[in-house]
Amino acid sequence: MLHLPSTCPELKTKRLLLRPFVLEDAPRVTEIAQDREVADTTQSIPHPYTIEDARNWILPQYRDTQEGRLYTWAITLQSSQEIIGATNLEIHAQYRWADLGYWLGKNYWGQGYATESARCLLEYSFKVLQVHRVQAYHMSRNAPSGRVLQKLNMRYEGTRRQAMIKWGIFEDLDYYAILRDKYLRH
Ligand SMILES: CC(C)(COP(=O)(O)OP(=O)(O)OC[C@H]1O[C@@H](n2cnc3c(N)ncnc32)[C@H](O)[C@@H]1OP(=O)(O)O)[C@@H](O)C(=O)NCCC(=O)NCCS
Repeated sequence: MLHLPSTCPELKTKRLLLRPFVLEDAPRVTEIAQDREVADTTQSIPHPYTIEDARNWILPQYRDTQEGRLYTWAITLQSSQEIIGATNLEIHAQYRWADLGYWLGKNYWGQGYATESARCLLEYSFKVLQVHRVQAYHMSRNAPSGRVLQKLNMRYEGTRRQAMIKWGIFEDLDYYAILRDKYLRH
């Protein structure tokens, strides 16, 4: 059965500390999320991005976590404690799967941080939450995100054509997933 804690624990990797957001993080979130290039390949980051957007995004996270519905972590660097991005797991309890999402400030791209934090959330999903499947999707034009999922041994399951609209343009979405058995066998 699923184990859904009512708090978002701190999780450590080699270089990162994943921790829950607090309202005081809103200015820093605004600083990194307001970059159009960051918003460009996400479904939910608005542009332009204001501090109100950041507050309205952080505020419900506590309740979502308590309800075991959506767990969101700030991705921070252990070395400086600065926030470099965010990652989350949306729980679909009925079918015991989790949807993985992530974004990073542009200055931090290309250094393996997304892979490192996503690897940590895969482990958390299967070993702590006890999910059966972890799924993720990205716009087909977002090759780096696809690469992150491939590096985690997630399997490409197909493309939903023109399934999202971004900046007024239809976008194809590539879907990836990994099942519990395969994860635990590795
Ligand atoms: C997608 C994103 C999270 C990747 O983060 P990251 O920390 O740079 O990712 P990593 O460094 O762990 O891995 C990126 C991989 O993509 C590869 N890559 C980079 N540009 C690429 C391109 N144009 N084509 C193919 N692969 C590419 C990198 O070489 C790396 O693979 P490698 O380790 O085999 O060399 C980051 O670019 C981002 O936040 N983008 C904006 C928001 C977003 O798109 N979020 C995801 C929504 S699904």
